[in-house]
Amino acid sequence: MATFQERPRLLLSAFLMNTSSHILGGMWRHPEAQQHRFNELSLWVDLAKKLEDAKFDALFFADVVGLYGDHEGGWASHVRKGPQVPSHDPLVLLSALAAGTKDIGLAMTSSVIQSHPFQFARQISTLDHLSQGRVAWNIVTSVLENAHRNFGGQDLVAHDDRYGWAEEYVEAAYKLWEGSWEDDALLADKESGLYADPSKVNKINHRGDFYSIDGPHLALPSAQRTPFLFQAGSSARGSQFAATHAEATFLFAPHAQYVAKKNAQPDRKSRRRWPQPRRYQGLRRAVLCRGIHRSRSQGAGSRIRRVPGFGGNRCPHRRWPGRGSWRFGPGYALGTNPN
Ligand SMILES: Cc1cc2nc3c(=O)[nH]c(=O)nc-3n(C[C@H](O)[C@H](O)[C@H](O)COP(=O)(O)O)c2cc1C
Repeated sequence: MATFQERPRLLLSAFLMNTSSHILGGMWRHPEAQQHRFNELSLWVDLAKKLEDAKFDALFFADVVGLYGDHEGGWASHVRKGPQVPSHDPLVLLSALAAGTKDIGLAMTSSVIQSHPFQFARQISTLDHLSQGRVAWNIVTSVLENAHRNFGGQDLVAHDDRYGWAEEYVEAAYKLWEGSWEDDALLADKESGLYADPSKVNKINHRGDFYSIDGPHLALPSAQRTPFLFQAGSSARGSQFAATHAEATFLFAPHAQYVAKKNAQPDRKSRRRWPQPRRYQGLRRAVLCRGIHRSRSQGAGSRIRRVPGFGGNRCPHRRWPGRGSWRFGPGYALGTNPN
């Protein structure tokens, strides 16, 4: 039998959002729910510390930069019920969580529409320094029309064109992270007064369809230089983008075989960015509900189903407690089939 180290390791990433109502719409009304306090730092620091103590690999923040499409005749119902509005910036929050944690990965979503790559690359490098190399970026292109209009667009950019935009965005960011400061450019020599060697700090002179950036990168290269990269597209163009850039992909996967099939796709090996490609990971979503095994009428699943408004959740998959979900008894060993 393989030793513990040789076995494939289960990766645990908590799926969060800096808002009161992420994907389980209405759950903020549960008597024990705390997410309505999402604007309080202590809520997130406590959670981050608990996840770190529980050996989670990462805490991951989803994000949107606009409202979902019209619902019940307009956008007012989003505000009335609170699904992903209000929603606060994850990057700013992660900076605080970097100070309150030591090991856990700090992953955040940022859309190519919301920030110029020069500014974004600088923010990420700064955060990677502050967290000593724990930052991950979920690259999204924003599917919400309101988000595009918030950043000056007229309409939603066509699907594949959004990925073309993202290709240039990440190329520009790679140039800043990887190609600007050479490893030995920083001297900080108090004796000579030479802070850095200009012959080892390069302008990037990026010229593309969307961006023109001279450089050099204003931040020092951080521990990772380029952060760990997530992606979640599953269309043909999205999969191609993920295969080229992502080290981990989020999957709304109906079953384990789907994940295995996705992981085995040959284009996963075509990623050209890394001299020695980092291992690809597919992450599947799981909703864990403590106490559901005890009794259908008194367990947590039953209490959750009674929360008013929970039926209005927007999640497209119906693997909720009591709806064909797996049940783990006390003492269950993760890694074995629960059913
Ligand atoms: C698990 C998961 C999480 C996602 N999180 C975000 C997010 O936080 N923000 C966002 O704008 N899009 C998010 N998306 C949407 C994807 O980035 C992408 O736009 C969507 O899956 C459609 O891509 P495709 O057309 O290539 O399949 C998420 C998708 C999945 C499956």
